[in-house]
Amino acid sequence: MSADGKITDHLHSPARFGSSQDKAHLERQIAQQDGVLFGGGTLRAYHTSLSVRTPALIEQRQAENRPPQPIQMVCSRRADFNPDWRFFQQPFPRWLLTPPEKARFWQQSPHFERVLAIESWHWPAILSQLYDFGLHKLAILGGGELVAQLLEAGCVDELWLTVCPLILGGKTAPTPVDGEGFLATHAPQLELLTVQQGGQEVFLHFRAKKNHPVGKQSE
Ligand SMILES: NC(=O)c1ccc[n+]([C@@H]2O[C@H](COP(=O)([O-])OP(=O)(O)OC[C@H]3O[C@@H](n4cnc5c(N)ncnc54)[C@H](OP(=O)(O)O)[C@@H]3O)[C@@H](O)[C@H]2O)c1
Repeated sequence: MSADGKITDHLHSPARFGSSQDKAHLERQIAQQDGVLFGGGTLRAYHTSLSVRTPALIEQRQAENRPPQPIQMVCSRRADFNPDWRFFQQPFPRWLLTPPEKARFWQQSPHFERVLAIESWHWPAILSQLYDFGLHKLAILGGGELVAQLLEAGCVDELWLTVCPLILGGKTAPTPVDGEGFLATHAPQLELLTVQQGGQEVFLHFRAKKNHPVGKQSE
């Protein structure tokens, strides 16, 4: 995110302001996962996703008897994706989480290896289903709407934030956590684990505290 807490500009452009060091940091995180999950808005912004490319990271996964790439999962109600996007040519397995009516369409196409028809978006139940498919470690790559839902559902264990040296401003620019917002009295609480400076950026690592009542602005 920018120094003023935005994950992209007010035009919702694909966010590419992180340094090569930040990209390598993200790649290392991705390499540790069984799967990565992101919202339809993020896929529409980038048309692509980050695969594990560093040979040492791929070798490490294989030495642990894991597939070379984590599964790339997109969740979307609209599922209005263009199969010409580079995402659909990238060398990783793709899964889609979408309501049944959209699932029927994509199940008949070769673009996703697995299409999960989700009747009700109850995240603990969905994550439990993914766990049964072997996805024990999952990273949420954004955007803010999806991260807000998972935080509200108490499904986030750790949070990584990179603070980058620019200011984006604007009332409508997305932040790491959007949604309706939490009241300060019912906000998810974090414990700071590490702070590292790398070049002009700061890498923050938090653990989410459990057993804290989380509530929406409207409650
Ligand atoms: N700086 C960074 O590290 C970073 C990382 C990621 C994204 N971004 C930026 O964030 C922006 C996108 O963020 P965003 O908040 O608009 O989008 P987002 O969270 O990626 O996606 C929101 C979309 O996800 C789908 N979705 C969310 N919850 C769902 C649910 N419960 N069931 C089904 N589908 C669900 C819906 O997709 P449909 O609309 O397809 O139905 C919804 O519109 C982009 O501009 C991107 O550049 C920045």
